[in-house]
Amino acid sequence: MEKIIISGGNPLRGTVEISGSKNAALPIIAATLLTSEPCTIRGVPNLSDIQFMCDILRWLSVKVTHHKTDGVIEIQAQHPLGVAPYELVRKMRASVCLLGPLLARLHNCKVSLPGGCVIGDRPIDQHLKGLKRLGADVLVENGYVHARCNELTGSDVFMGGRFGSTVLGTANVMMAAVLAKGTTWIEGAACEPEIEDLAIFLIKMGAKIKGAGSHILEIEGVEVLNGADHKVITDRIEAGTFMTAAAITNGDIEIKGAHAEHLCAVRDKLEESGVTVERANGTIRVKGNGDLKPVDVITMPYPGFPTDMQAQMSAVMTVTPGISVITEKVFPNRFMHISEMARLGADVSIEGSSAIVKGVKHLSGAPVMACDLRASAGLVLAGLCADGETEVNRIYHVDRGYERIDQKLRHLGAKIERVSE
Ligand code: EPZ
Repeated sequence: MEKIIISGGNPLRGTVEISGSKNAALPIIAATLLTSEPCTIRGVPNLSDIQFMCDILRWLSVKVTHHKTDGVIEIQAQHPLGVAPYELVRKMRASVCLLGPLLARLHNCKVSLPGGCVIGDRPIDQHLKGLKRLGADVLVENGYVHARCNELTGSDVFMGGRFGSTVLGTANVMMAAVLAKGTTWIEGAACEPEIEDLAIFLIKMGAKIKGAGSHILEIEGVEVLNGADHKVITDRIEAGTFMTAAAITNGDIEIKGAHAEHLCAVRDKLEESGVTVERANGTIRVKGNGDLKPVDVITMPYPGFPTDMQAQMSAVMTVTPGISVITEKVFPNRFMHISEMARLGADVSIEGSSAIVKGVKHLSGAPVMACDLRASAGLVLAGLCADGETEVNRIYHVDRGYERIDQKLRHLGAKIERVSE
């Protein structure tokens, strides 16, 4: 197993290039199951989650060629199989978004229920409700979701659950509806940029979708879809993570390739905390001013402050003088990183779905354990500003969603190395 060792205290300076979005690429790879024609997906980050998704497709007899160094994946699903077993699905919850395309293409599929998740309860009731609305019979038995239909029929579907619109649920229903007979309206659709990117890919495949990126999608089903060539958007969460890296280290980072318009809520909170954020010529420049101010943050579905930035923002708050509060409205129990941050000297108490953070003067390095992807990013950030040496263990979590994070941080002046135990 590998770990990351950081000697904290260096302000990060320089330029970093943002990779393609994992959470856009994963459902787009699943969407290639909707056609027998070849598809090419570009700008795909080289991450373990992407490799898991490619492995599942290969297991389903799909031809997948992954040019890792170029970020290109060529996929052709001529005769896909319809069963995705637990051994593959358990590795990554996003594989639940195979359900919609497999059902639409084959009219009969079985996808294993994904299993537990450290960021909290992650039911798929909204996904199943949506597929049923399109006419599927859905049965959950022996750990599998078994969905079948004679044909899918357009309908109106509401996707807003207790914690906001479901992202992958919207993806699943949209992918099923593109091959359904008649028109589907998805109301309360997730409008995350990754869902908009999926809609753009589906439109390139010949799908008829209106309202991409909004809360109401109108989808007129077509009989067949064609192959398509698409470059995925860049990763707003990776970009946001580097923005917070500049803030926590009092650095000055130019972030290239990010879509600044996807990061308004993060920019807004960083500015409120006294950090300078400038947008120019396709870059975002984030500069610390040596003086952080406490802020209150509430995570919400897009365009609100992303839950996937909560751990990183919590890390910034741990060294911000005064009291900051961060409230988690999407995954109310997503605070596993807090006890690890306490090992570095952070002063945080959890009250319900809020973390009350009393800023300390200094964090001090210690061994910590990553427990999920964004939690590990938060711990790496905390390590970057802690005095002495921080050892982040189980960094396979970070490798699920950040391409070469140690190299990119080193390039910005961080003293960081990856070592094998
Ligand atoms: C996506 O997960 C992302 N994953 C997550 O990214 C992200 O944290 C999340 O959206 C929220 O933005 C991918 O895109 C691969 P949801 P998803 O369904 O779609 C509840 C990362 O670190 N809910 O929008 O699975 C659910 O429990 C990750 O990259 C239901 O109640 O999330 C949660 O409270 C992890 N019933 C809320 O809705 C359902 O049927 C939002 O979940 C579905 C969800």
